[in-house]
Parts: sequence; C-alpha cells; structure tokens
Amino acid sequence: MPQNDLKHLITWKDWQANDIKEVLDLALEIKQNPNNYSQHMNQKTLVMLFQKTSTRTRVSFEAGMTQMGGHGIFMDWLTSNFGLTEIRYESAYLSRNSDILMARLKKHEDLLELKRGASIPVINGCCNMYHPCQGMADMLTILTNCDSLNGTKLTYIGVHNNVVNSLMALCEVFDVHLTLVCPIAKEDAIDFDLRDKIIKKGLLTETLNLIESVKNAQFVYTDTWIDMEFFANPEFSTLKEERIKLMLPYQVNADLMSHSNAKIMHDMPIHPGYEITDEMVEHPDSVIYEQAENRLHAQKAIMLKLLHLV
Ligand code: CP
Repeated sequence: MPQNDLKHLITWKDWQANDIKEVLDLALEIKQNPNNYSQHMNQKTLVMLFQKTSTRTRVSFEAGMTQMGGHGIFMDWLTSNFGLTEIRYESAYLSRNSDILMARLKKHEDLLELKRGASIPVINGCCNMYHPCQGMADMLTILTNCDSLNGTKLTYIGVHNNVVNSLMALCEVFDVHLTLVCPIAKEDAIDFDLRDKIIKKGLLTETLNLIESVKNAQFVYTDTWIDMEFFANPEFSTLKEERIKLMLPYQVNADLMSHSNAKIMHDMPIHPGYEITDEMVEHPDSVIYEQAENRLHAQKAIMLKLLHLV
C-alpha cells in the first residue's frame, strides 16, 4: 500500500469526524446488506495478534474476514516470536505477508511500536487506553435502537477505563450526551484531551448521583470493574475485593433500572452479580447481545475503510 494511503485505527482521536461518520454509515449498510460485501476481502489476509484473552474480538474479526471472502490468522503472542525480538521488526515482516493487522496488546506504547514497523493498517483490538472497535459497535447499537444519535443520552456506570475513552471520542463526534458515573477514575486511565473536547461541546456530565443519572437516559451501559485478565487471578484478589466493596452500590440491577426506561448495554464479558445482575442481562430492554453482534458489522466497515476497498 502506498505510504500516503496508509491509515491505522489506534484511537478515534487520530481520525477526522467525517471519516468516523462514514465508518458508522458503512457499518449500518453492511449490517443491513451483508451479501453485498461477500467478495470485498477476496485474497486478503488479516493477522490477529493477541497478548490477552478474547471471545468477541477474535470471533468477530475472523468471521468478518470469512464473510467478506478473506482469511484471518490467529496469532498468540506467547507462541509467536514477538516476545523474542523488537515488536517493530515482527510487524515489518507481517506487512510483507499479510494485508492488515489487528492487535490486542496490554500496553498502548507497544501498539505504537507495532504501528511503527508496519506498512499495512494496524487496528487496536483493545489496549489499556482505548477500545475503538467496541466504541464503534456501541454507536451502531445505539443508532439501531433510537431515532437518531444526535441528542441521545447515554449513561455509563463503572470504572473509567479504555471503553470510556473511546466512548468520549465517539459521543463527541455523534453529538451523544454522555453521563459518566465513575467512582474509580484514575488519572492515568483518562484521556484528558478527549475529555476536554467533549466537555467543550457540552456533551459530558460527570456525577455520582446514580438515580438521577439513569432517569432520563435512553441507554445505560456498564462494564467490568477490574481488568478482565485479573478477574480470576488470585494475585489480584485484594484489589478485586476493594473494588467490589466500592462498586457494588453502583451495580446495574432491577432496583436501579426501576427509575429508568433505558436500554441496557454491556460490552461483555459479563460478571453477573457484580457490575450487573443476570436479570438485567436477560431483560427485554437489554441490547447486550445485539451490541456484541455489532462488533462484526462495525469491524467489517473499519477494515474496508482502512484498506480503501469501498
Ligand atoms: N468486548 C470485548 O472486547 O470482548 P472480548 O474481550 O471477548 O474480545
């Protein structure tokens, strides 16, 4: 690919608003007419590099490539040679034998190294700071469950994390009003540029008033309270117990949602009895499974845009 045309998706803050809007339009079009895109990835190969576990990211990217006539290669960090050398050397090699890379890496800096060596598009499949593919699937979910994104009210309840940074970026572009109820918001987890930008547009409310936050929301979104890789790790049991104590009053449950008519969102994997109850996951107002499905449509659109195939 000529270097002038080379574009990556590390975070939406690197993208122009119009390009982001085109991705969402395309994601909707692909969701409605998937067969129209069944050959767009003919002869194309996606490499999917994982340093962390995944269900949705792996399946939706691989299925997306299959459905568009291409192929996805799963690569586990530990059984590849990434750990033995410089990241950028490996991505320089991968750029010669594949067409597009998706990586789920623990550290944002390592993702930037991957990008540095690459001469093909790199997609962030979730790092410590951003989850851009999730954010686009979330916007598609909201769009397909309301009349218009513009002016829609989304409340996120949980820890300020990578998903929140991507939501701030996209809510600012799509004029969605975002209310954050984040009792834990560590400075190093927050992208303050994105926060400043959405505040300037008058689209961000930060509060700990839980009931007020859900009353007029059309969508209520929650996520895990502890990094998913640590959830079942005994080394993090103290941190986990502290977080549970602090966060349990902020659980999305029937009592809280009795104050709201909002649709319920969660990016999965779910920890029932912690951030959300099983009853709310399976509630008629839950759009959680559709939200997960939308990863497929959103990522097809992202890949086609990055490869200039539409
Ligand atoms: N939401 C999400 O990224 O799911 P996985 O961790 O299963 O990929």
